[in-house]
Amino acid sequence: FSVENIRNFSIIAHVDHGKSTLADRLLELTGTIDKTKNNKQVLDKLQVERERGITVKAQTASLFYNCEGKQYLLNLIDTPGHVDFSYEVSRSLSACQGVLLVVDANEGIQAQTVANFFLAFEAQLSIIPVINKVDLKNADPERVEKQIEKVFDIPSDECIKISAKLGTNVERVLQAVIERIPPPKVHRKNPLKALVFDSTFDQYRGVIANVALFDGVVSKGDKIVSAHTKKTYEVNEVGVLNPNEQPTHKLYAGQVGYLIAGMKDVTEAQIGDTLYLHKQPVEPLPGFKSAKPMVFAGMYPIDQSEYNNLKSAVEKLTINDSSVTVHRDSSLALGAGWRLGFLGLLHMEVFNQRLEQEYNASVILTTPTVPYKAVLSSTKLIKEYREKEITIINPAQFPDKSKVTEYLEPVVLGTIITPDEYTGKVMMLCQARRAVQKNMMYIDQNRVMLKYLFPLNEIVVDFYDSLKSLSSGYARDKAHSVGKAICERLKDSLPRQLFEIAIQAAVGSKIIARETVKAYRKNVLAKCYGGDITRKMKLLKRQAEGKKKLRKIGNIEVPKDAFIKVLKTQ
Ligand code: GTP
Repeated sequence: FSVENIRNFSIIAHVDHGKSTLADRLLELTGTIDKTKNNKQVLDKLQVERERGITVKAQTASLFYNCEGKQYLLNLIDTPGHVDFSYEVSRSLSACQGVLLVVDANEGIQAQTVANFFLAFEAQLSIIPVINKVDLKNADPERVEKQIEKVFDIPSDECIKISAKLGTNVERVLQAVIERIPPPKVHRKNPLKALVFDSTFDQYRGVIANVALFDGVVSKGDKIVSAHTKKTYEVNEVGVLNPNEQPTHKLYAGQVGYLIAGMKDVTEAQIGDTLYLHKQPVEPLPGFKSAKPMVFAGMYPIDQSEYNNLKSAVEKLTINDSSVTVHRDSSLALGAGWRLGFLGLLHMEVFNQRLEQEYNASVILTTPTVPYKAVLSSTKLIKEYREKEITIINPAQFPDKSKVTEYLEPVVLGTIITPDEYTGKVMMLCQARRAVQKNMMYIDQNRVMLKYLFPLNEIVVDFYDSLKSLSSGYARDKAHSVGKAICERLKDSLPRQLFEIAIQAAVGSKIIARETVKAYRKNVLAKCYGGDITRKMKLLKRQAEGKKKLRKIGNIEVPKDAFIKVLKTQ
């Protein structure tokens, strides 16, 4: 293919706006996959992705399309749809010259639409707005067109209205890709410069790196070097993705494909890295960052005898996902385990789900926390720290307050889009979470877009639920039922004591559920024969007083089983 006939593009969208459905239609229209088969979301390969209906790992496909007698090669680079993976999105986008920005005709612009738009805008890509789901009864494509014009400054006549589900007008999208997205600017005569924009691990073949060639050519047998690790490899296989791997002899600048080169785990082919030919070094492509975990949680086997099995499962999964960090950790209640770092909460859930599904492991995950930094007053005072600024990923390791001059925490810029009747409540919620308002604008007559700077810790666990509850009352009900369930579980698992134990669940200072573990009652009257009522009264009174005192000072030990029962179902 001459470069003139190549287009590299991505589809970006808010979760559920129809990105994968549109990708399937494009694959069918170009004959890449068979129309007769049930092609539900071919690009979502992992089981977790299919179950959750979200894209976790980017997948890529090369499509061949005939337009006005000319044959085109369209490289569709699928991007993850979730905010946890925005770095992966940005790297995938740097392999493209344009994007399809898909917006649901009923829901309109959502927070992730805005975030993705800016990633594409900053990468200076051509942006084709696609309004999807026009077949829905409540679809209002005209309103969405106006939102797009207002928020992104894209003229409304550039919007393509489609139904990815029914296939309506999808051909028009392919034509727009050819007309509005420029071919890649590349130099085939220069030495090789290839961007790694994704990598996966195959049990039998090792690491498969997805690459976009900016310059040069790569062939089987070439010696290549990673600009990040400086390690040299021999290329065993190159090819294109159709969407499954199809070996070719060479890959040329402008093309997107894969290569296999004896890399043992995905840390050797990190997203954003540049590959070049041995002895022909080039300036690495800009924007490379090692993945930086932002959410940490303890992970423990339910049964310590499972420790070694779990260890090998965690090792195997991290071979496939270089963005998870692993530190050994132990807890008094839960035994030996690890402290794992993830990109975000969804990333953590997906990891956990994969452990369960692919390795049959069941684990306890503790409540996630974010990394903090502490600036120490003097490193001399604290022998174990050599640096003045330390990063803390485990709450148990917080240094003593007297030795710290300043604590730092991660913050994120969040976008919230809400019907205007909830604006006041949303603003109150944000303030309660220590957020600082940065911007506010009406995106149409009754929808407001708010931008806030949030401390990550304040939003990482339940912010989204709280936000939803403002309009539905959902979270409070949930708090009640979850609180009640935990109290009941604790009640059943705690051994009875000589005193009564009150188990309470609280949201802030408000008690939302309570259970009581009744006290054992020692029969203090057992040795008291006869009917001396005053003696009986005295003994009972002393017992009652004793219990009162016990209740005040009585610490109870929560057995490990009880912990596990409570933590597990959260
Ligand atoms: P992520 O992978 O999580 O980013 O989601 P996605 O954007 O890929 O969305 P997906 O393609 O999975 O579609 C989400 C839901 O919307 C699915 O139930 C689709 O069947 C449905 N859907 C997609 N396109 C259309 C459409 O044109 N009309 C209607 N009515 N439903 C659609």
